[in-house]
Amino acid sequence: MKIIVTGGAGFIGGNFVHYMVNKYPEDMIINLDLLTYAGNLETLKPVENAPNYKFIKGDIADRAFIFKLFEEEKPDVVINFAAESHVDRSITDPESFVRTNVMGTTTLLDACRTYGIKRYHQVSTDEVYGDLPLDRPDLFFTEETPLHTSSPYSSSKAGADLFVLAYHRTYGLPVTVSRCSNNYGPYHFPEKLIPLIISRALNNEELPVYGKGENVRDWLYVTDHCKAIDLIVRKGKVGEIYNIGGHNERTNLEVVKTILKALNKPESLIKFVTDRPGHDRRYAIDPTKIETELGWKPEYTFDTGIVKTIDWYLNNKEWWEHIISGEYTKYFENMYGERL
Ligand code: NAD
Ligand code: DAU
Repeated sequence: MKIIVTGGAGFIGGNFVHYMVNKYPEDMIINLDLLTYAGNLETLKPVENAPNYKFIKGDIADRAFIFKLFEEEKPDVVINFAAESHVDRSITDPESFVRTNVMGTTTLLDACRTYGIKRYHQVSTDEVYGDLPLDRPDLFFTEETPLHTSSPYSSSKAGADLFVLAYHRTYGLPVTVSRCSNNYGPYHFPEKLIPLIISRALNNEELPVYGKGENVRDWLYVTDHCKAIDLIVRKGKVGEIYNIGGHNERTNLEVVKTILKALNKPESLIKFVTDRPGHDRRYAIDPTKIETELGWKPEYTFDTGIVKTIDWYLNNKEWWEHIISGEYTKYFENMYGERL
């Protein structure tokens, strides 16, 4: 099988490419990525010479380029990870989120429709459901929860999901959609909470916690997400949505304190800063459907996954030090300048 993985130079896409190249030597994995600030070919070093792997630089929203690529490569499967993915950036620059997340997705869908495809899979997010109240631990997101987005990021992802489902109903395109909770693990860009806290704590720098640190996220180790997507693409029912999550809810403050304890760093590094506008309170996934229909079970809990993640950051300093010493410094100053 020939599989195009878009966004394979990013965090989850990169982990997914590693997983697929190693697990399916008989399949050809084509990694299509624009290499934005979040794309990093250093993430692909472990697989770059594998005979069943190829990298192509390109933009999923560039129609002429995408159609030419599909004509040449004739992929069997397309798995779309490519996205602008950071909520804070979507608050300062919503338009780039519409372009990549909505127009990029529709461009891929049109190419799939024109050239034919066995499966198109959309990697979506639990953020399309909006948020849950902090005082209702009995509530969870199911696949039937109405879309109710908060940020430009989540709105662009919800828009993309609706197009994917519309292409199934209107044109019969064989699609699936997955909506996962917060991921963490190796190769996570240090603008996101967990890698930001690990890298800054290791450098004894202040740790920005939004508001009171009470917001709750449901954390999933990245390879458990990769395995779920592989399962959905191979065994999931066409036209269906699958939620992915492992019941690992933590407040942000709990996450930060866990990391500080593991690194033997003082809690005095924590700095409570102005809250994110529109900040979602709680995410929590009900994964019953993927567990019962496809037999998926996560391998890691938050407690085991965070230890593995911290070890990876300790053993791979070069990977994240390259990032935080480059362009990223400017982003950090713009985003946090007045807050820290
Ligand atoms: P990321 O920001 O780390 O990586 C995104 C990748 O997409 C980068 O390599 C970037 O270069 C590439 N890209 C961006 N615009 C592109 C374009 N126009 N054409 C081609 N490539 C482009 O993101 P991530 O955290 O790995 O997330 C991957 C996907 O998973 C996204 O669709 C995101 O919405 C979804 N998701 C993420 C999480 C999470 O916790 N990180 C959870 C659930 C779902
Ligand atoms: O739920 C899935 C989503 O998880 C994905 O769709 C997104 O692509 C991904 O970025 C992530 O979104 P979040 O906004 O939840 O992740 P982030 O790491 O940015 O923030 C996690 C929590 O930590 C959130 O409540 C905001 C808070 N936070 C974040 C940063 C960067 C802080 O308190 N301080 C910070 O500096």
